[in-house]
Amino acid sequence: MDDVAKSADDPARLARFEARVAREDKVEPNDWMPDAYRRTLIRQISQHGHSEIVGMLPEGNWLTRAPTLRRKAILLAKVQDEAGHGLYLYAAAETLGISREELVEQLLTGAAKYSSIFNYPTLTWADVGAIGWLVDGAAIMNQIPLCRCSYGPYARAMIRICKEESFHQRQGFEIMLTLCRGTDEQKAMAQDALDRWWWPSLMMFGPHDSDSPHTDNSTRWKIKRVTNDELRQRFIDATVPQSSYLGLTIPDPKLRFDEKTGHWRTGEIDWAEFRRVIAGDGPCNRERLADRQAAHDDGEWVREAALAYGEKRRQQPAPFESALHAFSG
Ligand SMILES: [Fe+2]
Ligand SMILES: [Fe+2]
Repeated sequence: MDDVAKSADDPARLARFEARVAREDKVEPNDWMPDAYRRTLIRQISQHGHSEIVGMLPEGNWLTRAPTLRRKAILLAKVQDEAGHGLYLYAAAETLGISREELVEQLLTGAAKYSSIFNYPTLTWADVGAIGWLVDGAAIMNQIPLCRCSYGPYARAMIRICKEESFHQRQGFEIMLTLCRGTDEQKAMAQDALDRWWWPSLMMFGPHDSDSPHTDNSTRWKIKRVTNDELRQRFIDATVPQSSYLGLTIPDPKLRFDEKTGHWRTGEIDWAEFRRVIAGDGPCNRERLADRQAAHDDGEWVREAALAYGEKRRQQPAPFESALHAFSG
């Protein structure tokens, strides 16, 4: 018995739900939904939210070392956008019945799953360019179809997030372009960043469709509308010409253009590396977790101050009432 059948305690309700999803009506938080639909969304949205939060760390490392004031202002805005994405997504997950405390707890205890890409180090400034170009570029490919996801709060959050990701991708490409038009040393830095970020970016789309355990239900319920392999192919086809424009070489001797299909074909991804990073043994997994825990501890006074302020506001009369008092007094 699969997940769908198990959750079908009321077949008539399930049929109504599925008909509605088929009509492209959005599912909203108070609507009835199958348990497996709720669980799939909680898993996916919380993993997505955690990825946005952890995703601030690799680039955050370069905030104090950005080469110019302009670059620093752009990077600061981008990292703040990622915090915002994390918070919209946590709020969307909360509408499905998981609490903010549970989400924060998952992240701080290391129980949370997040994108494997954020466990790689940022060694030079060119890595900030490569992340914007490739990682945010891959995120856009993944997220554009999610704007049409059947769950309303997730789909709506994605519309704004995609607009911001598009700015992130462009600022990253512009950093790469500047480096590639600079000195030989700067161009070498850009190439080195591409060499290190290319394969992890392809891994961001997840396992091949044939090895992906979640695709079936997710497609049927219009949570996932395009498969991992199709999204990865779109990303490769968009990115290879950009890399030629930059004058950089994709680090894949097997890369070739397939005239028959009009697609770029790559060599095989190192799935053993992917599994290792996902299992917690990537180059920076421990560092990311420790940094996140330290940031949470350092923020203790902010949470205390916000709670104290909220408490004080609750004890004061609302502005309308105090105006009334002043008038009558
Ligand atoms: Fe983001
Ligand atoms: Fe982004």
